[in-house]
Amino acid sequence: MNSTVLVTGGTGYIGSHTAVELINEGYRVLIADNLSNSEPDVIDGIEKITGVRPGFEKLDLCDAPLLREYIDRNSDITAIVHFAASKSVGESVEKPLTYYRNNLVSLINILEEMQQRSLSNLVFSSSCTVYGQPDKLPVTESAPVKKASSPYGNTKKISEDIIEDCITANPSLKSVSLRYFNPIGAHPTAFIGELPSGVPDNLVPFITQTAAGLRSQLKVFGNDYNTPDGSCIRDYLHVTDLARAHVVAIKRLLENRNKKNYEVFNLGTGKGISVLEMIKTFEKVNSLKLNYTITGRRAGDTEQVWADTSLANRELGWKAESSLEEALVSAWKWEQYYRKNK
Ligand code: WQD
Repeated sequence: MNSTVLVTGGTGYIGSHTAVELINEGYRVLIADNLSNSEPDVIDGIEKITGVRPGFEKLDLCDAPLLREYIDRNSDITAIVHFAASKSVGESVEKPLTYYRNNLVSLINILEEMQQRSLSNLVFSSSCTVYGQPDKLPVTESAPVKKASSPYGNTKKISEDIIEDCITANPSLKSVSLRYFNPIGAHPTAFIGELPSGVPDNLVPFITQTAAGLRSQLKVFGNDYNTPDGSCIRDYLHVTDLARAHVVAIKRLLENRNKKNYEVFNLGTGKGISVLEMIKTFEKVNSLKLNYTITGRRAGDTEQVWADTSLANRELGWKAESSLEEALVSAWKWEQYYRKNK
């Protein structure tokens, strides 16, 4: 039987898809989540897909004594994938202290528990927001980390620094930070997917909710950028491809194949797609017309960013396999399945 992996934030969007891929690889998965931005029936979805029900604990990682008691109770945990964090860029601008407290204290508590035990394998959920607007594209892991455009992005940058400093102080700790570009889509079964609370910030859930009639119209935030069609460019990758990268990272650490105790990898497709291209592709693959309009720019938006994925391709042997079309078909299927079954 493979090792036991703790997935914090495992009822969230990327966490739940990663739990599925870890179970498929034979790992025993435990999920700890405070359910502040996810629903408990995601556990049922994971079980429906894999036939295995992960362990689940409703837990606020900012509560150090509770976390300690939980880890004591699950002493067979050999690796942690840490997703648990608040992640709305806009909300973080309005509530910076909530974001700094939640995202940093939860990580610090995790690291403290790891240091107390011989628990030395950590995969961290980071983000391409640490690059800001890169000077050069595609952006590599050695690109300068810039002042984040939001407290959310800053918590990711600071978290990476905290992990690196802990490794310097305690070389038995090994960690891989995965810098996500733009995760989209849902598991092909449509049993799990993205569950934005309230009005979606992100493009794809707003597109699917508009197509489903939940939103009257999609606003395209600006078409006056210095890009071929004037709309912003991003690197959109299927969430299942992203989840698989976490399994590869966990294996790398558990089998001591990491080259350094702290490694960082970009996870993207290596291709940049504009907002207007996303809309056209969504309409084509799902045979529908989307109601959208062009409005002004959204504050804080990066004009264009996409990944150089050669390091992850070479070192992890990972690359995004799914097409944009597959991702957008899965997003639409999930929207139709989820709303129907709610
Ligand atoms: C993508 C593009 C918008 C909505 C953020 C976080 C990042 C990660 C993913 C957590 C932009 C445009 C969007 C809409 C639009 N989250 N857009 N109309 O901003 O690249 O990244 O989410 O890790 O950290 O920063 O993603 O989906 O919000 O926007 O025109 O209604 O779609 O302007 O160009 P973003 P997004």
